[in-house]
Amino acid sequence: TYEKAWLGAALVLIVFFIATVTYGTVGAGVEMIDDSGGTVDPNNLADHERFGDPGVEQVGENEYEVNVIASAFFFRPGSDQRGFDPIRVPANSTVTFYVTSSDVIHGFSIPGTNVNTMVIPGEVAELTVEFDEPETYGLLCNEYCGFDHHNMEGTVEVV
Ligand code: CUA
Repeated sequence: TYEKAWLGAALVLIVFFIATVTYGTVGAGVEMIDDSGGTVDPNNLADHERFGDPGVEQVGENEYEVNVIASAFFFRPGSDQRGFDPIRVPANSTVTFYVTSSDVIHGFSIPGTNVNTMVIPGEVAELTVEFDEPETYGLLCNEYCGFDHHNMEGTVEVV
């Protein structure tokens, strides 16, 4: 009957749409891994090797890695205004930031440097910058993330 034929066609379409959506999601996720510092479970950062105890780590003579968690509405470390340590690295160093979010999309921007990225829950943003001279920089969230977005800030001290 026509009714059965329509029902069958509708089912085929539904399956096709689900397959398309699923395939699209997986495809995009794989691409993002290539562009970033990897993926992470935003609900389980405490057990993560980088983000369980975020902070500054010396990895070479003049090389440092800085692991940072962005949360509404602070950076840890970074937001000294909110009681966390500022980010403190030596001058004449190469610093790679690994930044992830525990909740919503944030920004991670250090005005005066090339550090400026979006921070997406589940992903790790990776940026490398050279700090030559001692200087104190600001640290800003530049993605709207909620009512206190405009106060989501911190300090990067190059000493
Ligand atoms: Cu975090 Cu705006």
